[in-house]
Amino acid sequence: MVATWNGATNELHLHNGRISYVIRALEDGSLAQVYFGPALAPGRSYVHLGPAHFEAFSDRQTEFVALEYPTGGAGDFRVPALAVEHADGSSVLHLAYAGHRISTGKPAIPGLPSTYVERLDEAESAEILLVDAEGGLEVRLLYTIFADQPVVARSVRIRNAGTARVTLRSAMSASLDLPDSRWDLLQLAGTWARERHVVRRALAPGRVAVTSGRGASSHEANPFVALLRPTTTEDHGTALGFSLVYSGNFRAEAEVDPFGTTRLRLGIEPEGFAWTLEPGDELATPEAILAWSETGLGGLSDAYHRLYRERLARGAWRDRPRPVLLNSWEGAYFDVRASRMLEMATAARDMGIELFVLDDGWFGERDADTSSLGDWVVDRRKLPDGLDGLARQVEALGMRFGLWIEPEMVSPRSRLFTAHPDWAIGVPGRPRTESRSQLVLDMSRPEIVDHLFGAIRDVLRSAPISYVKWDYNRNITEPFSLGLPAERQGEFFHRYVLGVYDLYDRLTREFPEILFESCAGGGGRFDPGMLAFAPQAWTSDDTDAVERLRIQWGTSIVYPLSSMGAHVAAVPNHQVGRVTPLATRAAVAFFGVFGYELDPAALSPDERREIAGQVAFYKTHRELFQRGRFLRLRSPFEGDGNDVAWMTVAEDARHAVVGWYRILNRPQPGSDRIPLRGLDPAARYRVTAWPPGDDSMAARNAVERGGDDLMSAGILVVATRPETAARGDFQARLFVLDAVEQPATD
Ligand code: GLA
Repeated sequence: MVATWNGATNELHLHNGRISYVIRALEDGSLAQVYFGPALAPGRSYVHLGPAHFEAFSDRQTEFVALEYPTGGAGDFRVPALAVEHADGSSVLHLAYAGHRISTGKPAIPGLPSTYVERLDEAESAEILLVDAEGGLEVRLLYTIFADQPVVARSVRIRNAGTARVTLRSAMSASLDLPDSRWDLLQLAGTWARERHVVRRALAPGRVAVTSGRGASSHEANPFVALLRPTTTEDHGTALGFSLVYSGNFRAEAEVDPFGTTRLRLGIEPEGFAWTLEPGDELATPEAILAWSETGLGGLSDAYHRLYRERLARGAWRDRPRPVLLNSWEGAYFDVRASRMLEMATAARDMGIELFVLDDGWFGERDADTSSLGDWVVDRRKLPDGLDGLARQVEALGMRFGLWIEPEMVSPRSRLFTAHPDWAIGVPGRPRTESRSQLVLDMSRPEIVDHLFGAIRDVLRSAPISYVKWDYNRNITEPFSLGLPAERQGEFFHRYVLGVYDLYDRLTREFPEILFESCAGGGGRFDPGMLAFAPQAWTSDDTDAVERLRIQWGTSIVYPLSSMGAHVAAVPNHQVGRVTPLATRAAVAFFGVFGYELDPAALSPDERREIAGQVAFYKTHRELFQRGRFLRLRSPFEGDGNDVAWMTVAEDARHAVVGWYRILNRPQPGSDRIPLRGLDPAARYRVTAWPPGDDSMAARNAVERGGDDLMSAGILVVATRPETAARGDFQARLFVLDAVEQPATD
C-alpha cells in the first residue's frame, strides 16, 4: 500500500494492490482526476489517461476536463464541489496546486468522526494543497488509502489565509469525474418504518440528487449512493460506492454532462448552507469513503462492512459479542412500573435474555409522549426505588440493565422548557412547529451541550447502567440559533451536528464500558457518523418480519450486521397488523443484533419455550450473526420479491447460516435451489435445518454436501410436497452449514 508522488509528471498514485486512485496537477495548476479503479502497476505514469476527455478548445476550457475538486465561475459549468462568496460579492475561484505531503497512518478530522488506523502501517495518507492566489483561500484535499481495502477516504480542509472574510456556499467532501455515464445510480430511500429500500435507476443527462435537509441524515435518504454498470449484480461487475461519515443534511448528486461524462459529488447539503471564514478560520468537511468493487454490489458491501465494523466503530464494545436484549417499548409503552418491569425482566431472564432495556417513560412525568423530555430525573411514582433500585434488581437476576434517553429534545411541558424556553430551536416571534409534541434543543450552543452532558452523566452515574439507547424522534424545523449572528445562520445545521458529536464524544469517553445504541424514531439517523460513537443502531421502528426483510436487506448494502438492531415483536404486529409465525420473526431478526420487544408475561408456556430455544440458537451462532460475512442471495426488490434469501459466513468459511423466506405461500411451488456464496469449494458441509424438528428439507439436501455443489447447484429450499401447502404464508427456514473435519468418502 503506497501513496507516491511522481515529481516528473506531478501525479499522485494511491495504490494498494486492489485499487488505484490517480490524480495530477496540470500545467495551469488545476488538479485533474486521472483514474479510479482496479489497481494499476505502481511506478508508472498514467498521463496518457487524461485528464482531457477530448481536446480543449482553449487553454482555460475546464468544461472538458475531469477535475478533482471543481469550482465554478471559470469555465466549468458542471456542479461545483466548492462554491464561495468573497467579501466583494464575487464567487470566482482559481484553485491551483501549491504542494503536497505524504505520511503514514491517517490523521483525525477535528470535531468530526472518521475512520481510523490502529497502527501506522495500516494506511498511507496524502494531503494536496490548492491555493486561490487572488483571494487567499487554501484548500487541503486529504486522501487515505488503507492496506488491503478497496476504499479511499477523502475529506477537505478549507482555510482562509487571506485578509478578507470568505463565505463558503458549498464545501463538498468529495467530487469524482468519471469518463462515461453508463451507470445506474443506486440509493437507499424510504420513510419512517420503511427505511433504506433499494432504488436503482439509469443515469441520464442532467442531475439526480439524494439529499436530506431535515437536520438528520433521515429515514427518507441515507448518505450513500452507488454507481453500478447496468449489468452489475450482487456478485458480478463493477460497483462504486460513495458513503458519507455524517449525520446531518447531506447531498449525493450525479450529473451527466452533454458529453456523456459523469460527475458525482458528496458532502454537506449546500442548500441553506453558508459558512463564514474570517481570516485564519478553517472548516473541515466530513469524510467521504469511496469504494470500488469488481465483484458486484456484494464486493462493495464487504468493503464497507469490514471498514465500518473495525475502523469506524470504536470503544470497548466494538469487538465484543453484543447481548441479547428485551426492550420494554412495544411490550409496555408508557406503562412503566417497577413491578411490571421486573416481571418482564424475570421472564426474559428465564428465556436466556441477557439485557433488560427500560425504554421511554421512566423520567419526569412522562405518562405519554406529550411531556417531560429534558427532565432527566427518575419518576418515583413509577420507580419508587429509583433507577438504581430497579437496575440492581435486574442485575440480581443475572442480567444487565439498559436505559432509553432522548437528550437532544425538550417537551414544551417540562421543567427544562419552563426554565429555558429559549433553548429550543425556533425563530423569535414566529410559531414553532411541534412534532410528537416536542421541540429540538439548540445543540449548536455549547452551553446547552454542557448542560446535557451534566444531566445525562448524572443519570448514568446514578445506577448500574450497561447500555444506552439514544433516541432522536423528530426533525428540525424553524432552523435558527440565538447563538449565531444573522450572517452566520447558514452554519446552524452543521453546528447542530457538531454539537451532537461533541455530546456523544464526551459521554462515550466518560462511560467507556456502556454499550450505546443510536436510534431516531427507528432508522432516521442510521449513518456512519452515528456508528463511530454507537456501534449499533435501532434499524427501524417497523418490527414486522416481512417489512424487515426489505429494511435489513437495504441497510446491509452499507452497514454491517453488528450495527443492525433487530427484535422479535408480538403479533398482530404493531406497525402493520400482520400475523407472522414466531419462528419467522426470529429467523429474520437473527441476522443482526438480536432481541425481543414484547411483553413476556403475555406469552404462553409454549411460546416461552420456543423463545428460549431461539435465544439459545442465537447464542450458539452469535459470532456468525453479528460478525460473519453477510451475503445477499435473493432480493426482495427484484422480480415479485416474494422469496428472499441471504446468508452469513465465517471468515474461515467453516460455518455459515443461510436464511430463506417465502412471503406468500403458493400451490404447486415447484422445486427451488438457491446457489450459495462464500463457502470453501473444497470443504464438505453438514447441513442442518432450523427451526428444529423441520428436518425434511435438510434431509433432502443430503446431510453432507460439498461447498462446490452448494455454490453451483445450490441449496434446495422448496420442493413440491404436500407439506408445502400446510405451511401457510410467511415461511422461513434456516440452514446451518458446518464444515466437517474429515472429507467423507464418495
Ligand atoms: C422511538 C423509538 C422507539 C421507542 C420510542 C419511545 O419511536 O424508535 O423504539 O424508543 O421512540 O418513545
